[in-house]
Amino acid sequence: MDLKTDNSAIADESKYKYKRILTGDRPTGPLHLGHYAGSLKNRIRLQDKYETFILIADVQALTTNFEHPEKLKENIFLVALDYLSAGIDPKISTIAIQSMIPEISELTTFFSMLISVNPLRHNPTIKTEAKERGYKELTYGFLGYPVSQTADIAVFKADLVPVGIDQLPHIEIARKIVRKFNELYCGKLIEPSALIGESPKLVGLDGNLKMSKSYGNAVNLSDDFDSVKNKIKSALTDKNRIHPTDKGNPDICTIYSYHKAFSGGDLIKETEYNCKNGKIGCVKCKENLFGVIKTLLEPMNERRNHYLKNKDEVWDILFDGTKKSRIIASETIKEVKNSMEILYNK
Ligand code: TRP
Repeated sequence: MDLKTDNSAIADESKYKYKRILTGDRPTGPLHLGHYAGSLKNRIRLQDKYETFILIADVQALTTNFEHPEKLKENIFLVALDYLSAGIDPKISTIAIQSMIPEISELTTFFSMLISVNPLRHNPTIKTEAKERGYKELTYGFLGYPVSQTADIAVFKADLVPVGIDQLPHIEIARKIVRKFNELYCGKLIEPSALIGESPKLVGLDGNLKMSKSYGNAVNLSDDFDSVKNKIKSALTDKNRIHPTDKGNPDICTIYSYHKAFSGGDLIKETEYNCKNGKIGCVKCKENLFGVIKTLLEPMNERRNHYLKNKDEVWDILFDGTKKSRIIASETIKEVKNSMEILYNK
């Protein structure tokens, strides 16, 4: 993907003290290690520092899954469960459901006038997604989802958006729209910046550039340990390495890239050295990685089991979070209409 950006869309975290974060995911299925490394881990760390809102973007999910709206409810639950299991703390972070905040749709309509279709059509993430899905023609809703995403962010008056690198073009669009709004209507909306995770992109088990549910090359956060083990066993390594004593090239090995994302510094260095010098076989290296992933997932499983036994608690968290979010959203809409001089009263 060609990610030509003005780096001004990326925030320098050290410059921010108490700020508001808004981020989100489409509820299209379970979250995987790629989500964790790309943004979820970052969000968990940041929630202690910033006021955090996380949106489960069910309307955005409809831009690609409009034929199956009946799957949304279950997927919303699963994504919320993944958040809570991974360590999003509902006492300090707010999780909300997008379609239950109609002010977002309202703001999307106002924003849709402030951007022409060309930057939307040339958005590299839209182009990649459209290609991956084999779209010959784009729906108005799909092409415009970065506009609705701008409304997600702006309605919360968020300063920072922790996301994977593929979302950067959308943040640039958001900044453009907000700037235009403020200029035209003397508005006071916030131009958001992105916070990119430490391991912005995780390759798939099959070596594909991206771990993704749709490619079937992902380790889900909700996978049981047997499937995690089997998936890791099946992952692509340096094909030229046949025997454990062969000298390998870690830079083309999927497993090594996971070590870099999840293992501690010592194990990463050791793995690189041992692979390059033929001192460890792929089987053992994969076992080491499994140990690391197991340690990561264990506490998640514990929380998951708690919430699976108390499903109502998950829905309560979602509905309470949505209610709290709506209060903010309706304030913003009032201010927006006021700036546009369309807040009519007698
Ligand atoms: N487009 C994001 C994704 O596919 C999901 C999303 C929806 C989002 N609304 C958002 C991300 C607002 C950040 C902010 O992962």
